Amino acid sequence: MLNFTHCVPTRFVFGRGVENEVGKYLKEVGATKALIHFGGGSAVRSGLIGRVERSLDEAGIAYVELGGAQPNPRDTLVYKGIELARAEKVDFILAVGGGSVIDSSKAIAHGTCYDGDFWDFFCGKAKPVTTLPFGAVLTMSAAGSESSNSCVITQESTKTKRGLRSELNRCRLAFMDPELPMTLPPYQIACGATDILAHMMERYFTSTDGVDLIDRMAEGAMTAVIAAARTAVKKPDDYDAQAQLMWASTVAHNDTVGVGRVQDWGSHQIEHELSALYDVAHGAGLAVVFPAWMRYHMDKDVMRFAQFAVRVYNCEMDFQHPEVTALRGIEAHEQFLRDIGMPLTLKELGARTEDIPALAAKTKKTNPDGTTGGTFHMTPQDIEAILRIADR
Ligand code: NZQ
Ligand code: ZN
Repeated sequence: MLNFTHCVPTRFVFGRGVENEVGKYLKEVGATKALIHFGGGSAVRSGLIGRVERSLDEAGIAYVELGGAQPNPRDTLVYKGIELARAEKVDFILAVGGGSVIDSSKAIAHGTCYDGDFWDFFCGKAKPVTTLPFGAVLTMSAAGSESSNSCVITQESTKTKRGLRSELNRCRLAFMDPELPMTLPPYQIACGATDILAHMMERYFTSTDGVDLIDRMAEGAMTAVIAAARTAVKKPDDYDAQAQLMWASTVAHNDTVGVGRVQDWGSHQIEHELSALYDVAHGAGLAVVFPAWMRYHMDKDVMRFAQFAVRVYNCEMDFQHPEVTALRGIEAHEQFLRDIGMPLTLKELGARTEDIPALAAKTKKTNPDGTTGGTFHMTPQDIEAILRIADR
């Protein structure tokens, strides 16, 4: 196991009706005026925004609203949010929504405290050193942004989607009511579960030895997510299934199942190019990329892929031919994705074969040698080959 530090300063308020307690907790952290940020309208239609605002009224906290954050959130609205936050002198940003709204809120919080262009943080020109406090009322279980150290924004003019990792990205407060995602269409529930699993798998496929504790925790968590996802897409009003997914969203992406090891993140970098260019749901893009990534890299660490197959998907171990077991695991994962209604091919996403070289070339290079991915270092040629596997 590698050395690590792990600090998740988020206070989680979890369970039925916790959105009615937002005011009390914001007051505790000293908020006096909040910017309530939300998406395309689901939180207004469900009455959630009204409940949150009532709770703020009761606590004597003033607020202004900014709606309109889109899936794959855009820089253009972040600029508007920064302007509004400054003009209104807010001292807390409250996201009410999924990962897109939360990420847009994080970018607004950082940008409000920065004299330059907030995009500097996303193109690597500057690092945020301070931010406004922010929190989230989570409405879907997926990105894990409610306690992750990450934030992902798309620059609209160039269709460039980039992530920022910083400890300043951690929410102060996360309100997590498993009843809220019950209004999601099954497709979005499935996208969310796919993203949660992908966050565990990016960490699971490691080159670090001696990490059995976290391996076992991740395997148990993945098994529970797979079962809960199967239930929730059929019965979105199943409270316990939604509760498992909601806490899994957090656990998957705040490093509870990732400390002390090399992590990969290559599939995420490739997927960000797909959702930037075609505006597809992040989870759907991952359903296409991740199995192709697994097929491409399997031979480089066949025992780890076989371990995944045996412990997560209950495949039988073939000690003579571990590659057969490894492949069974990938097939089982693909079958699960199919069962919950996810796409598996670029065509199903609406992606074009002729775009593959450009997608591969544009994928963010995460290593000093110009390659992408922590466990398996990929050149643009490797990425192109993975996309061609997905181009079925
Ligand atoms: O905009 P509204 O009307 O609210 O509709 C949203 C949106 O259309 C809808 N929705 C959310 N909660 C709902 C609901 N509809 C009905 N009932 C509810 N309770 O769902 C749609 C998708 O929402 P979005 O926020 O885009 O989904 P998600 O949470 O999957 O976030 C995706 C974004 O997060 C990024 C992704 O790249 C993508 O941009 N990620 C952020 C990460 C992070 N910050 O740590 C990590 C991830 O790997 C990911 O990259
Ligand atoms: Zn993700």
